[in-house]
Amino acid sequence: MTDRGGLDGAVVADISTSYIDGSIGKLIYNGYAIEDLAENTSFEEILFLLFNERLPSRAEYECLRETVAAKAAIPDAVIAMMKSLPADTPAMAVLRTAVSMLSAFDPDAENLSDKEAAKAKAFRLTGQITTICAAWMRIVDGQVPIVPRRDLSVAENFVYMMSGDAPDATACAALNVYLVLLAEHGMNASTFATRVVAATGSDLHSAIVAGISALKGPSHGGANSEAMRMFLEIGAVDNVAPWFEANIKTGKRRIMGIGHRVYKSNDPRAGILRRHAEALAESSGERKWLDVAVKLEETARADDYFVQRNLYPNVDYYSAIVLYMLGLDVDMFTPLFAMSRIAGWSAHVVAQMGGRLIRPKANYVGPHDREFVPMDER
Ligand SMILES: CC(C)(COP(=O)(O)OP(=O)(O)OC[C@H]1O[C@@H](n2cnc3c(N)ncnc32)[C@H](O)[C@@H]1OP(=O)(O)O)[C@@H](O)C(=O)NCCC(=O)NCCS
Repeated sequence: MTDRGGLDGAVVADISTSYIDGSIGKLIYNGYAIEDLAENTSFEEILFLLFNERLPSRAEYECLRETVAAKAAIPDAVIAMMKSLPADTPAMAVLRTAVSMLSAFDPDAENLSDKEAAKAKAFRLTGQITTICAAWMRIVDGQVPIVPRRDLSVAENFVYMMSGDAPDATACAALNVYLVLLAEHGMNASTFATRVVAATGSDLHSAIVAGISALKGPSHGGANSEAMRMFLEIGAVDNVAPWFEANIKTGKRRIMGIGHRVYKSNDPRAGILRRHAEALAESSGERKWLDVAVKLEETARADDYFVQRNLYPNVDYYSAIVLYMLGLDVDMFTPLFAMSRIAGWSAHVVAQMGGRLIRPKANYVGPHDREFVPMDER
């Protein structure tokens, strides 16, 4: 390999869903600044934007919101399968299995060529992933899963299905911002995985399973739960400095939620989530974990190693704090990422449908012209 690997710098598609300038911390969805979208839109508006290259009218928004909510229930057989799994099954493995199983119940699962059918499947799956996430939380807690409501948005339905109570407005607003911020992000590893599958002519569910599988890794979506586990391990603000000395200065570990392949300055999503974490801390009076995260960021950013390598908190760093303050189990953080990223994944899959097979080359570094020796003579 002549470069550092990882397809760094390779361009694999023309896209209009999102654009990132990592040198100045800029992210846009189809032309709109992420800062504007985060403060002013709902997740369903983003879903509409990614598929239609424009924001919806109120009537279009309401129609899409209801379409997603109306199809969000999952078959009893999928719930039964989830109940049959060991309670310590990683939530991402549960989600991967449940989405794969859902294809068997989707009337259009094997319709491989019709983009309108693929969009309808994507909207069904968007609601269903929300339901799977909430259902798994309740199953693990020994509670009965709750059926989604037709009158609620994705964020509201998730908060409602967690508890069965009327969804709390502050929690819904924080979750909605999270969903908006995580919905799409260029040619990230999981999106690329969905495109590779879609380019073979395979189906939407298979592509989304590939996306979930890639997102699960700690170098990608798994970093949000790893970041929270790290904050919990540190335990208190006063422990940040000795923890940093013992684990980071010695080179033993990386700070999870810091560093990014594309952003070499502030990730704009991290700043927005930090502000929401501040608001949640303010309203709850509980700011211990936020203080640990802020102190660790300050410690890292004061260190030459992090400055020279342009390492800043990424989206996972403060989203860990927001999700924890929303009462989610750490294991559920990455499924929540998938609950949002389904929007970007499925828009990429539909765009890729009918496109050319993705088939890069590898640099062969093995031997040539070896003499074959029969097994009994080896
Ligand atoms: C995201 C990540 C995988 C990007 O990887 P990448 O683009 O391949 O960058 P590299 O792994 O080559 O890192 C570049 C340098 O910064 C260092 N580095 C990167 N992230 C670091 C971190 N979180 N803590 C400490 N050092 C880090 C690397 O050790 C490397 O140092 P070197 O040049 O001396 O070898 C990487 O920053 C990381 O592992 N971060 C933690 C996990 C995480 O938050 N992932 C979510 C991403 S949204």
